[in-house]
Amino acid sequence: MHIGCPKEIKPQEFRVGITPNAAAEAVAHGHQVTIQTGAGEGAGFPDADYIAAGAAIAPTAEDIFANAEMVVKVKEPQAVERKMLREGQILFTYLHLAPDPDQTRDLMESGATCIAYETVTDDRGGLPLLAPMSEVAGRLAPQVGAWTLQKANGGRGVLMGGVPGVGPARVLVIGGGVVGTHAARIAAGMGADVTVLDRSLPRLRYLDDTFSGVFKTSYASAGNTIELAGYADMIIGAVLIPGAAAPKLISRAQLADLKPGAALVDVAIDQGGCFETSRATTHQDPIYEVDGIMHYCVANMPGAVARTSTIALGNATMPFMLSLADKGWRQACEDDPHLLNGLNVHAGRLTYYAVGKALGIDVLSPNLALKA
Ligand SMILES: NC(=O)c1ccc[n+]([C@@H]2O[C@H](COP(=O)([O-])OP(=O)(O)OC[C@H]3O[C@@H](n4cnc5c(N)ncnc54)[C@H](O)[C@@H]3O)[C@@H](O)[C@H]2O)c1
Repeated sequence: MHIGCPKEIKPQEFRVGITPNAAAEAVAHGHQVTIQTGAGEGAGFPDADYIAAGAAIAPTAEDIFANAEMVVKVKEPQAVERKMLREGQILFTYLHLAPDPDQTRDLMESGATCIAYETVTDDRGGLPLLAPMSEVAGRLAPQVGAWTLQKANGGRGVLMGGVPGVGPARVLVIGGGVVGTHAARIAAGMGADVTVLDRSLPRLRYLDDTFSGVFKTSYASAGNTIELAGYADMIIGAVLIPGAAAPKLISRAQLADLKPGAALVDVAIDQGGCFETSRATTHQDPIYEVDGIMHYCVANMPGAVARTSTIALGNATMPFMLSLADKGWRQACEDDPHLLNGLNVHAGRLTYYAVGKALGIDVLSPNLALKA
């Protein structure tokens, strides 16, 4: 199969859909790989790395879209890219169609077969192509929170690990899923005193079994949440209710109960944020203050560490990309129901129920799409 990878054009996106290592594996499987010139630069992969891996370099995105049988990307295709998609072509990337009727319409009109990273599943009920970015954001959260806590940035002026004779920062992580667990581990590794809150008792049991001695766990009732928040120097918001906006767990009025200069890191900002006073910020201008409390609310945190994020995403996507290329999308999806769950659009029809429900569009069952 001819696999193509264009340079990402969404603002502030430095990741790339195919790493040189993934390109080399695809070439070893007998596929032809073409990368747009400069596509890997933001992640530290020059064209030469791809050439060494056996890939070809194309000058423009038009070349990639015109010739590739499968286009592999990171972010959802922008309007100009959508115009270049064509019938029969496979698109493998993040799509996030539910809040995006324009993109959904364009993808349907293109006739392409569009497989979304974010809806591919695994045997344990997880989302294996979303998890690596949650791992990155989680591990980054204490790092950016520690910076926010510095006095010059408006924070309390508290050092995560303290020093001999001075206690460490107290960190409260709300939500003990993928983001929260990774955040708690790193915060504890920095020497902070860490507590993780969750509403799922099985999850709290797992965390306690696995990490007792590293961090504490507590139940996320509203009363307990605000009581523990009052002791915290840093609060990391990491909750998720799948398919719903994040619940608001600290109101504006409750900011008065927090320590002055405390840092709120709202990782859940991409679902609307879990603090009432959260609003999305960018890497250029990541923090702001409300009532003496510092907020960090960057919606695409993994972009700050584009190289790590690209490699982590590539590790997760590569087996699926190889399967699609080796077998063709139909056979690959027939053999693997988890990959079939990624199918969102095929030949002019929407094939993902939650998106159809959100946008009021008729859905063709993915199993019927396999036969269509
Ligand atoms: N800002 C970014 O760059 C970025 C990057 C990756 C992920 N995220 C977001 O981070 C959030 C967390 O993602 P995840 O992968 O860890 O999800 P996850 O499903 O693994 O974990 C979410 C956890 O929140 C818990 N929870 C739900 N409601 C709660 C409540 N009221 N109080 C306490 N806990 C509650 C759940 O029980 C679950 O354990 C999501 O909104 C995700 O989109 C943001």
